[in-house]
Amino acid sequence: MANVSGNVLEVGVGIGANFPYYDKEKVHVTAVDFSPEMIKSARERAADCQINADFLQEDVESLDFEASSFDYIVSTLTMCGYPNPTGVLKRFNEWCHEEGTILLMEHGLSSNPVLSITQKAVDPLFKKAAGCHCDRDMLEIVRNSGLQVDYKNSYWTDIISLFWTRPSK
Ligand SMILES: C[S@@+](CC[C@H](N)C(=O)[O-])C[C@H]1O[C@@H](n2cnc3c(N)ncnc32)[C@H](O)[C@@H]1O
Repeated sequence: MANVSGNVLEVGVGIGANFPYYDKEKVHVTAVDFSPEMIKSARERAADCQINADFLQEDVESLDFEASSFDYIVSTLTMCGYPNPTGVLKRFNEWCHEEGTILLMEHGLSSNPVLSITQKAVDPLFKKAAGCHCDRDMLEIVRNSGLQVDYKNSYWTDIISLFWTRPSK
């Protein structure tokens, strides 16, 4: 996050947990969430962190930005909840400047067979309890979106993944 600069789009901003990690001198953040409560908390967090930000209370599916509008797009722990995560990433591809970067931190399917079978089995229950899916293959979703993966880092047998990606224009 230290390198993030310019026009930044953060989708599914939540309470603004990432705001302390931006360099406030270098970013203008367009922060999106469909929850009014989350937007309210994120506004307060941005003020505390002195982040220059605009807020949009919108569903990611209904967002409409001009192509190549953003230097960076940041999304953390959101792809698990969208009905069509590949479609959302394809839109990130369009909205990100060709020299820009799309940063993702997501949770998903383990590479450990025992854990992944368990994740698939409990997913319907998990969705009801947590409101998101625990069995999504994030690498496959990112690859299917057409984004180019520059670097990937994983933890906990791939359950947590960080992606540094570029748009493919
Ligand atoms: C698990 S939270 C992650 C929040 C934040 N990115 C973080 O890392 O702390 C997911 C967020 O995405 C938002 N969200 C889920 N689906 C959305 C959608 N379709 N459009 C906009 N926001 C959405 C939720 O309201 C929630 O704030």
